[in-house]
Amino acid sequence: MTGTALPTTDELRARALSALGTLGVTVPEGGDFSARSPITGDDLFGLRAATAAEAEAAVAEARTAFLTWRTTPAPRRGELVRRLGELLREHKSDLADLVTIEAGKIRSEALGEVQEMIDICDFAVGLSRQLYGRTIASERPGHRLAETWHPLGVVGVISAFNFPAAVWSWNTAVALACGDTVVWKPSERTPLISLACDRLLARAAEDVGAPREVHRLLLGDRAVGERLVDDPRVALVSATGSTRMGREVGPRVAARFGRSLLELGGNNAAIVAPSADLDLAVQGIVFAAAGTAGQRCTTLRRLIVHRDIAETLTERLTAAYRKLPIGDPFDENTLVGPLISAVALEAMNSALARVQAQGGKVLAGGNRRLSEAAPQAAYAEPVLVRVDEQTDVVKEETFAPILYVLTYDTLEEAIALHNDVPQGLSSSIFTRDQQEAEIFLSAAGSDCGIANVNIGTSGAEIGGAFGGEKDTGGGRESGSDAWKAYMRSATNTINYSSELSLAQNVSFL
Ligand code: SIN
Repeated sequence: MTGTALPTTDELRARALSALGTLGVTVPEGGDFSARSPITGDDLFGLRAATAAEAEAAVAEARTAFLTWRTTPAPRRGELVRRLGELLREHKSDLADLVTIEAGKIRSEALGEVQEMIDICDFAVGLSRQLYGRTIASERPGHRLAETWHPLGVVGVISAFNFPAAVWSWNTAVALACGDTVVWKPSERTPLISLACDRLLARAAEDVGAPREVHRLLLGDRAVGERLVDDPRVALVSATGSTRMGREVGPRVAARFGRSLLELGGNNAAIVAPSADLDLAVQGIVFAAAGTAGQRCTTLRRLIVHRDIAETLTERLTAAYRKLPIGDPFDENTLVGPLISAVALEAMNSALARVQAQGGKVLAGGNRRLSEAAPQAAYAEPVLVRVDEQTDVVKEETFAPILYVLTYDTLEEAIALHNDVPQGLSSSIFTRDQQEAEIFLSAAGSDCGIANVNIGTSGAEIGGAFGGEKDTGGGRESGSDAWKAYMRSATNTINYSSELSLAQNVSFL
């Protein structure tokens, strides 16, 4: 652990109350579940979950609000998102405090999460003036063919603990600009930051005269999420979480012909080629593998290193891992905060035990770092494990800071290893060889939704679409043209001639 003592649970409670007070949040106290901090592993407040009647009312209200919101001019819808962005800027520090308290993120990453929310608001404001359709050449004289985009309906957002606010904003800022309304079911682990986001959106709505019901928050467990999944009034379910969760959500939404947008597990790899700049590679690898305590969907989990540089690189990584400051995420020297729970730590230890039984050799890390002051907390040293082959454990996503190191001889072999996992979220190659980089980015290269060169697998910018293939679920959120998932398109044929001509020269009457 870093030298400084962990804050006490009372101190965390006071800090959370101060942030919530500044944000104007009233905590719905109750005995259904608890807001908890992984910093100490202790409960902070008892909370009330949404009842079935409240969940029903939330969807009904969001549906009614949609009927007016969909015809509100898109640039005016953008004003709501602009105001939300302003409020996020104003409250950046308090929001980051809540992210650190509930998700255990170090201060710089928590501030980064709020910055990402601000960025997507800016993006969505611009988008509100750019929901472009297109004109298509018609085969018939005196006809115009067009594609237009229209709001979809109520969007159900189910989000995970690791990006408790940013993933909500990727969905919500874009959905609101697109004319949809949102019902949000956040992770049970991060209710306080969710209450804060909902409160700021309510304030933004009040400030610009938009209906408050364009956004509804439902705190609670899986049953609350299932209501959104099964409700035919919810046009799109955007769900972030495990592949196991996605396997349930996808078919259930499809069974009622709803749409789903799935952001599921990743098992992200980086190839390190002989020409790589190793200074740059070491920095990129350590942030991607150990940052956020290995709890990003985009965390680097597999390193595929050319045999000629494997020893040098692993020595440098081992040295870097041994120096990683682990501990209180509020301490500005800390780089690795706690795992979200003791269950996450057990999963990490179990994966490590299994991979060692399969011949894996731990090069650095792996000890549980207990804090006497917080026996319930789960602090773990990031681990580097040398493996000879991609066994079942290596092919699984363990949501913890374990980096498996494999070696390769040819680029073809490296790409084959890279793609030989069920997941397909993020990937990267470290190389100075342009031909290798281009091959990795080509159709014959990485099969992931995100493929990077000379940068790690994590830390996406909002301007690009975010999402992955295969067991990652195929969804795209955030930037680029991900907005199209939140709208429906219509093809329009307009006859401005005085003749009725049929397509394909069909004659009739
Ligand atoms: C995540 O959604 O888990 C990661 C996003 C990122 O790394 O930018």
